[in-house]
Amino acid sequence: MLRLAALLRFGSGRRCRDPSGGARVPSLCSAPPPQPVIAAKEPFPVELQAGKSYGWCSCGHSKRQPFCDGAHKKEAPGLAPLRFTPARDGPALLCGCKRTRSPPYCDGSHKRPEVQAAPLPPRA
Ligand code: FES
Repeated sequence: MLRLAALLRFGSGRRCRDPSGGARVPSLCSAPPPQPVIAAKEPFPVELQAGKSYGWCSCGHSKRQPFCDGAHKKEAPGLAPLRFTPARDGPALLCGCKRTRSPPYCDGSHKRPEVQAAPLPPRA
């Protein structure tokens, strides 16, 4: 019974394994992953360096937007940064709304009414 309670407590998102390290529970794994929060309603202009590895924040909780600061581990377990390495130096617009269909780059999705109407999370 205690084991079932632990499974249910940890059963959302991708935390679908028995917390004691046991078997994967498929019925718990089918829950959708947590949704990212909107960090900004516009893209972040950045200068990227060719060949350098970057971690784009996909959860929206990072205080180092648009890059990951590890906040997903506490705020959005199940989401992870998108690692990418640009092929050339230069400016880029990285998505701040976390709704792009072309991550990490802005595709204009931030202009959708539901994104523009959404509240922004409080920032410390
Ligand atoms: S900022 Fe997310 S698509 Fe433009």
